[in-house]
Amino acid sequence: MPAGPNLATLLGSDDQKYRQPRDLFDDESEESPVTEDLIQVGKSEVRRFVGEFWTSGQRQASSLHEVSYRACFKPQLPHYFIKRFTKEGDTVYDPFGGRGTTAVEAALMGRRIISNDGNPLSRILLSPRLCPPSLMEVEKRLEAIKYRKSLKADIDLSMFYDSETESEIVSLKRFLQDKSETGQEDIVDAWIRMVATNRLTGHSPGFFSVYTFPPNQAVSPESQKKINERRKQKPEYRDTKELILRKSRSLLSKVTTEQRVNLQRVYQFAQLLTEDARNTRAIRSASVQLTVTSPPFLDIVEYAGDNWLRCWFNGIDVDAVARTITMAKSIGDWTRVMGGVFKELYRVTKLGGWVAFEVGEIRNATLKLEEHVMPLGIDAGFSCEAVLINQQTFTKTSNLWGVKNNEAGTNSNRIVIFRRQ
Ligand SMILES: C[S@@+](CC[C@H](N)C(=O)[O-])C[C@H]1O[C@@H](n2cnc3c(N)ncnc32)[C@H](O)[C@@H]1O
Repeated sequence: MPAGPNLATLLGSDDQKYRQPRDLFDDESEESPVTEDLIQVGKSEVRRFVGEFWTSGQRQASSLHEVSYRACFKPQLPHYFIKRFTKEGDTVYDPFGGRGTTAVEAALMGRRIISNDGNPLSRILLSPRLCPPSLMEVEKRLEAIKYRKSLKADIDLSMFYDSETESEIVSLKRFLQDKSETGQEDIVDAWIRMVATNRLTGHSPGFFSVYTFPPNQAVSPESQKKINERRKQKPEYRDTKELILRKSRSLLSKVTTEQRVNLQRVYQFAQLLTEDARNTRAIRSASVQLTVTSPPFLDIVEYAGDNWLRCWFNGIDVDAVARTITMAKSIGDWTRVMGGVFKELYRVTKLGGWVAFEVGEIRNATLKLEEHVMPLGIDAGFSCEAVLINQQTFTKTSNLWGVKNNEAGTNSNRIVIFRRQ
């Protein structure tokens, strides 16, 4: 075992209250050494741990997580902190919920959840996975949906879809819109909406479109025309009902009975919000035991623009989304927004509760966001307990939308851990 200190001892916290072990290193393998040093923040020193904490030799995540979203984190990340800092029935929160990785993982583990995101797509992607229908229910509902071949989209989508596929997508869009407008959208409809939203565009015949970028990163119609020319391709028919069913089967493939019971129990108390993370009045003060989150990283990812086609399918005004979500141009703007987020997190966090705030590795790791985040949490009233750097070794290097897996063949998650004392 690596010679890592027990966090409970390190932080002088009360281990008795929790059934779960709270040692940061308790399921580490011998091959993963942890190094430790100190970072100076103002007058205090904060411990920094570097190691491979949750990737190697860890259990596989639930299939329910497998929906794509820009800059989402792996479920092992929230799992790691939920296991150590909460017990069953505690509330786990994510103010920048995205696809809902924290919420789904917490719910699978029997924790109560609150998830917020300025983009309404987040709720569409998350909500039905908290109460998944059976495959048979999905199949029967799909059979009942009437497709009308004459239907056309109100915008030109011919560069993405063949005309019959387009009419199926528009039929589905209208069906779901009618259900929603008449207040009749149930969990099976919501599930179909979530899966269809995920199948709109992609790089394989498993998606509705001709070869293109994934659905969380839809290109403009003009760019798609160029892709088609370059690849000498044109859209072919896709059986949308069959593809929805296939993806549903895969999402539901590893959900155990115990997990379904946990989800059902948690779903009725789940709080799903679509607010600016700085202003979440619906969340009770001092109610959250643990927040696990990753904020938007400066202006690297365009959460609104990249999702234009998903927004079209769901009748969401993409410009309104763009106005809500944070696209900070400079580190100064970013820290001002995050300062407001930390004030709100302090309000909602219980005494003794925790915040695990993940910042990516951006601009070739020259900008260490964790060093900007530490004073923000401290100014809001938290104590900064540690910085955890999870270093995952890659066999090849890659550079995804500016969040870089660096030259040494590693990728890191950098998490600043705060506590409300
Ligand atoms: C890095 S992503 C979170 C991904 C998430 N951890 C996951 O695994 O899917 C950041 C999210 O913050 C949302 N967002 C950006 N600015 C926001 C704000 N001011 N308030 C609430 N959400 C915001 C974006 O819509 C995006 O979904």
